[in-house]
Amino acid sequence: MSENRYVPSINRYKDSVGYNRCGNSGLMLPKISLGLWHNFGDVDNQDEALNMLQFAFDHGITHFDLANNYGVPAGSAETNFGKILKSNFSSYRDEMIISTKAGHEMWPGPYGDWGSRKYLISSLHQSLKRMQLDYVDIFYSHRYDPNTPLEETMAALSDMVKQGKALYVGISKYPVDKAREAYRILRENGTPCLINQDRYSIFTREIEQDVLPLAGENGIGFIGFSPLSQGMLSDKYLHGIPENSRAAQSHGFLQQSRLTPEVIDKISKLNEIAAQRGQTLAQMAVAWCFHKPQVTSIIVGTSSVKQLQDNIDSLKNLNFSDEELWRIGELG
Ligand SMILES: NC(=O)c1ccc[n+]([C@@H]2O[C@H](COP(=O)([O-])OP(=O)(O)OC[C@H]3O[C@@H](n4cnc5c(N)ncnc54)[C@H](OP(=O)(O)O)[C@@H]3O)[C@@H](O)[C@H]2O)c1
Repeated sequence: MSENRYVPSINRYKDSVGYNRCGNSGLMLPKISLGLWHNFGDVDNQDEALNMLQFAFDHGITHFDLANNYGVPAGSAETNFGKILKSNFSSYRDEMIISTKAGHEMWPGPYGDWGSRKYLISSLHQSLKRMQLDYVDIFYSHRYDPNTPLEETMAALSDMVKQGKALYVGISKYPVDKAREAYRILRENGTPCLINQDRYSIFTREIEQDVLPLAGENGIGFIGFSPLSQGMLSDKYLHGIPENSRAAQSHGFLQQSRLTPEVIDKISKLNEIAAQRGQTLAQMAVAWCFHKPQVTSIIVGTSSVKQLQDNIDSLKNLNFSDEELWRIGELG
C-alpha cells in the first residue's frame, strides 16, 4: 500500500457530488456513498482500495458504508478501512460519516448473529476496534430478527447513541410493518431512526410500494444499496463473464446463474436506452434511483477508481422523461 502522505483536493466541496438532507434530521449525506462490502477485504487489491477512498473523498463523497461482516474474510473490510483511515485520513475524521452494522452471522455460537442486545453491542465494540475508532456515525440493525423483541434490538441501538458510541442509528432490510414499529420505538427512546437502508435498483423495486413512502412520511432518510444489481446493470456481462468480475469470483455474492438469457436480453435493451440518453448503463442505473424524491443517497460498491468516476458522472443527467421511465419499468 502506498505510504505517500495524502493531501485531499481543496476543491472537494466546490466540485462535489452534492448533498441531500437525510429525512428531517440535521445530517446531510452525499448523493453517492461508497460501500465497502466486496472491495476492501483481504482478497481485494489494497492499492485500489486506497485510491478509491482518496478519489471518493476528493469528490466530496463523505459517507463510507461498512458492516461487521464485510470483506473476505468477514471483518477484514473494517480492518483494512481502519488502517487507511489512520494513515491517510486521521485529520479528516470530522468530515466523514462512517457507518457499520450487525445482524448477519459473524462469530460462532448463539451471540454472533441476529438482533439481541448481546450481539449488537459486542459487535459494535469489535467494529470500533477493527476500524480504530472511538465512535461510528451511523450504526444499523442489519436485518430484522423475528426471535428477539423489537424493543430489545431498538434499546441496544438507543443505548449506543446515549453512550456516544454511535451518533445516529438506522435499520436495514426490515419488513415494512416492523420498520413502522422500529421508528416508533426509537422515537419514544429519544433516539429517532435516521435512515433506512434497503436494496434498490431497476431490477429490485419492491421498496417503492411501502418502505419508501413510509420513510418519507416519518421524516426518515432512505439509502439504496446495490444500484447496479451487483454489476448486472452495466455492459460488462453482455458478452460473457469477464475474468475479474464479481460473477467470476468464487467468494462473490453474485451467482452466475442469475445471468440467464432473459436477463441478458433485458440488460441489452436497457443498454440501448442508456446510449440514447448519452449515458453508460451503469450511469443510467445510478441516475434512475434518484427519480424517487425520498432517496437521500445511493451506495455504490465499485471495484476501481474508473468505475467510481463513471458512477459519479451519472449525476450529470438525472432527468428522465415519462416515456423513458415507462420503457425502463417494462424491463425491470
Ligand atoms: N444493508 C445491506 O444488507 C447491504 C447489502 C448489500 C450491499 N450493501 C451496501 O451497498 C454497497 C453497494 O452494494 P453492491 O456492491 O452490491 O453495489 P453495486 O454498485 O450494485 O455493485 C457493485 C459492482 O458493480 C460493478 N460496478 C460498479 N460500478 C460499475 C461501473 N461504473 N461499470 C461497470 N461495473 C460497475 C462492480 O463489479 P466488478 O466487481 O465485477 O467490477 C462492482 O463490484 C455495499 O458495498 C454495501 O456497503 C448493503
